[in-house]
Amino acid sequence: MMLSKALARIAPSRTTAMTDRAIELRAAGRDIISLSVGEPDFATPPHVIAAAHAALDAGDTKYTAVPGTAALRAAAALHFKRDLGIDVPPSQVIVSAGGKQAIFHALLATLDPGDEVLIPSPWWVSYPEIVRFAGADVVDLPTTARGGFRITAAQLEAAITPKTRWLLLNSPGNPTGATYPAEELRALGEVLARHPRVLIMSDDIYAPLRYTPGAHATLAVEFPELAERVLTVSGVSKSHAMTGFRIGVAAGPAWLIGAMGRLQSHSSGNAASISQAAAVAAFEGPQDFLKDWCERFRARRDMVVAAINAIPGLSCPVPDGAFYCMVDAAPLMARFGDDEALCLHLLEHGVAVVAASAFGGADGFRISFAADEAKLEEAVRRIAGALT
Ligand SMILES: Cc1ncc(COP(=O)(O)O)c(C=O)c1O
Repeated sequence: MMLSKALARIAPSRTTAMTDRAIELRAAGRDIISLSVGEPDFATPPHVIAAAHAALDAGDTKYTAVPGTAALRAAAALHFKRDLGIDVPPSQVIVSAGGKQAIFHALLATLDPGDEVLIPSPWWVSYPEIVRFAGADVVDLPTTARGGFRITAAQLEAAITPKTRWLLLNSPGNPTGATYPAEELRALGEVLARHPRVLIMSDDIYAPLRYTPGAHATLAVEFPELAERVLTVSGVSKSHAMTGFRIGVAAGPAWLIGAMGRLQSHSSGNAASISQAAAVAAFEGPQDFLKDWCERFRARRDMVVAAINAIPGLSCPVPDGAFYCMVDAAPLMARFGDDEALCLHLLEHGVAVVAASAFGGADGFRISFAADEAKLEEAVRRIAGALT
């Protein structure tokens, strides 16, 4: 075996596996509607595309500073203040090749074998794999639909041990859409304040995509006493439909941002120069398109949730943010065995979704409603047909 022990600890992304299978079936001539993707179906805004062209034309094609251009770090600081309420100087912001890389570097830079990382489940697929790659142990904090897919302060307190190194929070969450209100974050903050060894990642990458009124709440703002231990992750992938540009940003204490930069200097170096220029335009340019996108996502969400809840055996709470719903299919498990078998059955009927078990959940599946309205309507019709 020529592979490292570290690699042997991680599995390939199962969301990608499902997308690949859908592609295979399509290549064989089958009509498959994919509701398994994690990216908006909207086009990248034209002012962002124009900025990328302008950067190319201006010869902006060389190495930049490893943690990002001065322009993008300043624009990201503006974003953290305007959109998340976080006051941070550009020096405490790092630009990476996607939010994923910022998370990867933060965890690799701080975890040792034997450390424990608390991850509320259902979780974003990459969190546990990155933790295991770093040699640390995943501690599952299970959540339920009834509990809004959010952990409680008591649950957090009970899970913390002397080995706990990180808590990974994701609000709005992938795959559940769960969104933490300010008072619940403050209650979690009270617990965390008593445990000074614990670092907290607040993955707010979906914050601009919320469907309930009121400002976004985030731990760095709700509990500023934790500032030396909170890393807030954000980006343009989801909010500006820029997944292919590979730009993510993170804000946190100088010691951690510096450590992430040290690692990044030997992995990828700077994020792509053209993409950085485009991201400046994304953060500094007009944001009004987001209102329309959120309206459309909200309407799709309402349609999908109502249609799913009308299918016997399926139920689904209303997600507050992001573009996913987590569907419970527990009553159908006697018929299908497990949720992967159910998802394969749905794929045979022309709809690709991802089993809840891929996210550390069970007996259900995630629907991404980042697809156009006609496709979504046809998809829920096919799901209903497949199950009756
Ligand atoms: C919760 C969450 N965090 C981070 C990311 C990473 O986004 P990217 O690396 O594309 O910026 C994703 C993407 O799917 C996500 O769902």
